[in-house]
Amino acid sequence: MARTPLLAGNWKMHKDHLEAIQLVQQVVYHLDERDYERSEIVVIPPFTALRSIQTLIDGDRLHIGLGAQHCHYEDAGAFTGEISPAMLAKLAVRYVVCGHSERRHVFGEDDETINRKVRAVLAHDMRPILCVGETDEERERGQAKEVVARQVQRGLEGVDVDRADDIVLAYEPVWAIGTGKTATPSDADEMCGFGRNQLADVFGEDAAQRIRVQYGGSVKPGNVAELMRQEQIDGALVGGASLQADDFAAICRYHRM
Ligand code: PGA
Repeated sequence: MARTPLLAGNWKMHKDHLEAIQLVQQVVYHLDERDYERSEIVVIPPFTALRSIQTLIDGDRLHIGLGAQHCHYEDAGAFTGEISPAMLAKLAVRYVVCGHSERRHVFGEDDETINRKVRAVLAHDMRPILCVGETDEERERGQAKEVVARQVQRGLEGVDVDRADDIVLAYEPVWAIGTGKTATPSDADEMCGFGRNQLADVFGEDAAQRIRVQYGGSVKPGNVAELMRQEQIDGALVGGASLQADDFAAICRYHRM
């Protein structure tokens, strides 16, 4: 089954709106039809740059999509400092990252909160990128699969099978994020395959075969091609390397290497 690869750059808390415009312009300068036909390419800037990037994508008819890093699960209300999925949908945001390990571990988001966000994002016709992955200690204790199974199952509770195609799963081992340590391609493949088995438990085998599973954690121009050759890996969620135009463009051109 051919799944369109999804290459997404999660900029985290980097780039003001002017730097963001420049970065997108530099990235697309290096890309052409071959890349856009091969993969779906998405940038995920901070909230303050969403409007600027949306305008740039629209005005220049760029073939890239827009994502957001986070949202609240309510549409509106007294939640100082939060952004709602309704607001993101108005900005033509296509993807919202839910349950990134930094949200789980630095900001204490639990599976229940993440599940509410996933459902809220879907309710606004956007697509959640549900991030899952074990910490170093969990891996050492042999609990990697147990953790991933729980995060997938609980993160997707109550999601209708009709919406399965709008889900993206990102397997990101916490020990590989921003550390320069990447899972070996075969380990990454095995864990992405395990994530897909969990999706099959939730939605059935057919739907699970259509859902894209990304790998994330120190993806770079030098390792992306081999990761993308793995059967169970349908894309990359890229942090650090997405902040350098040359690197992110090279990642998007992985199939030409
Ligand atoms: P990294 O981050 O590529 O810098 O390891 C990945 C992520 O956090 O999604």
